[in-house]
Amino acid sequence: MRGLAGKTIILAGAATGVGAGAAVRLGEESANVVVGDINIAGAQATAGDINAAGGSAIAIEFDLADEDAVESLVEQAVATFGGVNGLVNVGADLSPNVIGRDLTLLDTDLDVWHRTLDVNLLGYVRASKAVIPHLLEAGGGSIVNVSSGAAVSRGDGKRPAYAASKSAILALTRHVANNWGRQGVRCNGVMPGLVMGPTQERQNDTQLQEMFLAQVPTTRLGRPDDLGAVIAFLLSDDAEWINGQVWAIDGGANMRF
Ligand SMILES: NC(=O)c1ccc[n+]([C@@H]2O[C@H](COP(=O)([O-])OP(=O)(O)OC[C@H]3O[C@@H](n4cnc5c(N)ncnc54)[C@H](O)[C@@H]3O)[C@@H](O)[C@H]2O)c1
Repeated sequence: MRGLAGKTIILAGAATGVGAGAAVRLGEESANVVVGDINIAGAQATAGDINAAGGSAIAIEFDLADEDAVESLVEQAVATFGGVNGLVNVGADLSPNVIGRDLTLLDTDLDVWHRTLDVNLLGYVRASKAVIPHLLEAGGGSIVNVSSGAAVSRGDGKRPAYAASKSAILALTRHVANNWGRQGVRCNGVMPGLVMGPTQERQNDTQLQEMFLAQVPTTRLGRPDDLGAVIAFLLSDDAEWINGQVWAIDGGANMRF
């Protein structure tokens, strides 16, 4: 892909799963990859894989819910590679204590909503706020926000806080795209369908997997590298006329015309 070699891309929440898939692909495209995550051992493993394959990556521990830590992530990326050209907002609190307790409104404590919005939505706000000045300094850049098919779901029984956080990311994406597009900063989003990273493997929700395969016109469940390819494309110069879009990457679960 054009325009990724030598560019510095920060991934906010990329130790495992979709983020790690994107990090590895960006490494293959010869970008400088900054793997940020609260799970430092996982981030180091992902960065290690990229470096072992001949790429250039560093791992940095940070917390999406901590503004100082987010700013420090960006500062460390700039100090190491001399600037920033792109950001992938991808982390989400999918821990059993948070998403596992995200039930109907009447069955859920507000702390679940606070934590979900703090990490999944405000984390993206914090990272975008910290990175945009550097993209402007570089003459432009690209941000990709990882939302979810849950953003456009019908609002079924479970996970309303998660869906709300993912829906709000669509508005954030348009806000950034519209405000800084003229200065060369593009912002797009992806809405993955069911992607089998380690978190989904651990959840082992076979009923959900069977339902997905029964309802979606595809041959298989998603893989992190399905998302990695699209995220790398949206960050690249091949996508320089794509701004403010949110794509469903889900084997055809959501069809829009
Ligand atoms: N896998 C799917 O089926 C699917 C579907 C739709 C959307 N998504 C979205 O894709 C993204 C990645 O999810 P995944 O399925 O690959 O799961 P994952 O658990 O592998 O990835 C989430 C990452 O976020 C990190 N993280 C969690 N809290 C953090 C915090 N406070 N600060 C920094 N990092 C933090 C985790 O350590 C992990 O590395 C999420 O935004 C998720 O909502 C995934």
